[in-house]
Amino acid sequence: MFEGLSLSAEEIVRLSKQHSIFEWSAQGAVAPIPMTRAEGIFFWDANGKRYFDFNSQLMCVNIGHGNKKVINAIKEQADRLVYANPYMATDVRAVLGQKLAQIAPGDLNKAFFTLGGAEANENAIKIARMVTGRNKIIVRYRSYHGGTAGAATLTGDPRRFAAEPGIPGVCRVLDPYQYRCGFCSDKPACTLSCLRHVEEVVDFEGPQNIAAILMETVTGTNGIIVPPDGYLQGLRTLCDKHGIMLILDEVMAGFGRTGKMFATNHWDVVPDMMTIAKGLTSAYMPLGAVLMRDKVAAHFDKNVFYGGLTYNSHPMCLAAAIACIQVMEEEKLVENSAKLGKVLATELQKLKAKHPSIGDVRSIGLFSIVELVKDRKTREPMAPFNARHDQMGVMNDLRKAFLDNGIYTFVRWNNFFVNPPLTITQEQLLEGLAIMDKCLEITDAAVKH
Ligand SMILES: Cc1ncc(COP(=O)(O)O)c(C=O)c1O
Repeated sequence: MFEGLSLSAEEIVRLSKQHSIFEWSAQGAVAPIPMTRAEGIFFWDANGKRYFDFNSQLMCVNIGHGNKKVINAIKEQADRLVYANPYMATDVRAVLGQKLAQIAPGDLNKAFFTLGGAEANENAIKIARMVTGRNKIIVRYRSYHGGTAGAATLTGDPRRFAAEPGIPGVCRVLDPYQYRCGFCSDKPACTLSCLRHVEEVVDFEGPQNIAAILMETVTGTNGIIVPPDGYLQGLRTLCDKHGIMLILDEVMAGFGRTGKMFATNHWDVVPDMMTIAKGLTSAYMPLGAVLMRDKVAAHFDKNVFYGGLTYNSHPMCLAAAIACIQVMEEEKLVENSAKLGKVLATELQKLKAKHPSIGDVRSIGLFSIVELVKDRKTREPMAPFNARHDQMGVMNDLRKAFLDNGIYTFVRWNNFFVNPPLTITQEQLLEGLAIMDKCLEITDAAVKH
């Protein structure tokens, strides 16, 4: 054991801030929780304070914290074989590859393993370019695909700005975001104009130049945007018509989060490639993958796969993933996500009915968001798009109230998320939501009358 384990809460925060950078933040504004222990849907700080983990950390600890089966699988793998280089075949590689082929939709039968979601997306677009011989990639504005140079360019949200001008060939389209949709927010239902918009952009860019359309199946940090029925099917048809690869990013939406093993299963669409990470190991170890269909994989039977990573197929990570998927199946966590997802949807509607500061609620499974507004009629957001910490106003007070009352979740601009581990019970879910209900008086007081 190392000396650091005896540090006080104050020392943990001070030294962490002094010698390391916290991501996506001005360092002066960060106030990290000195997290020391976690179990199930809870974690504790160094002062012994307990928090509901209502964001599964970074929407990734799907099986909950501290699962002994996964921890033991990691320990056993460490005792047996910590590392094998990526040219080796290993038993964990054999077993996980086969398992993913079984649970993934259609004939997504082959995986290229990475260390996370960004690397998975980087490799997916490289594969699409190698296989099609084309260059352009179409992505959406309200999206996040990772923080590395290419993945940051694929990202549409402001996290791309620092990476600009970015990699060439990326074109962006608007999103199926009905609440603030330029095409149909004034209509009672989606008109699928967002799909026709993508078709138009494809025509303008020249379908013969487009290697792939890459989208989050259900948009994550940019707003839990659930595509309207027909949208993904329409994209599939569009891609088939022009020989464009459809890549679905299920890094956040995959592994039970939406109430199905993969979000695309809600619409029965099989993409040409699917990128996964996060829930794949529930973040017990870092792992991502690009899954590809047989016809995509076949390209590399004769052609060189130009891609590699020192930690590709790392045995420790693969062992964690195998155990994690086993836990999801044995504990029926996808089923629990679907079941409690219905409870969550009902409860969010109740909160909306009660609190004038709630403009919209959206959810699918245990993947949900509450969007706060100053005025329901104009839909003026409670904090501006891309608000800095000092522009967050009352949203900072809401975040503080959540934390003071033992609720940890993601508060971003005018939104907060409810994305608990899929192991949560109905009682725990209602208990956490009841605390949030009280805290919402803070934002109600900021509504324009
Ligand atoms: C949809 C999506 N894709 C990709 C990524 C990037 O994954 P990673 O942080 O593991 O590189 C994320 C991370 O939040 C994500 O939400």
